[in-house]
Amino acid sequence: MIKKEIAKMLNEQINKELHSGYLYLEFANYYESKNLPGFAKWFVAQSNEEMEHAMKMRTFLINAGEKVTFSPIADTEKDFTDVKGPLVAALKHEQFITQSIYAIYEKALELKDYFSAHFLQWFIDEQAEEEASAQSNIDKLDMIGSSGSGLYMLDREMGSRD
Ligand code: FEO
Repeated sequence: MIKKEIAKMLNEQINKELHSGYLYLEFANYYESKNLPGFAKWFVAQSNEEMEHAMKMRTFLINAGEKVTFSPIADTEKDFTDVKGPLVAALKHEQFITQSIYAIYEKALELKDYFSAHFLQWFIDEQAEEEASAQSNIDKLDMIGSSGSGLYMLDREMGSRD
């Protein structure tokens, strides 16, 4: 039902989504250590979303009769010099994931695997949202500066994410 090459790329993408979740949990660890529980909560929620992305792909492949296998999860960036560091790293990471999704989508169109291409459209929309929210976090921090009462307020706002 779906092209083998696309199934392989999607299987690799599952690893990237799981790695994203692992990365964001590490960012949450960093913010816990900086006594910013709101930032930490935001990244835990983001990590959970990445797990959902991985599961969506896993279910798609299994329903299409494909075998899913997992590979080791790569290590994560964890040494940051300031509060902004993980926010910038998160935006860069999402831009990387967007390119990865585009590559699968382009290959699906090239191989006329329209079923997979249609499935990937949800992820294309999702990536636009994820890049926008990663950029918005950076913009807010730039606006308030990384210290004092502004940071306290931003931490409260980040912590209001479900
Ligand atoms: Fe699943 Fe944040 O991309």
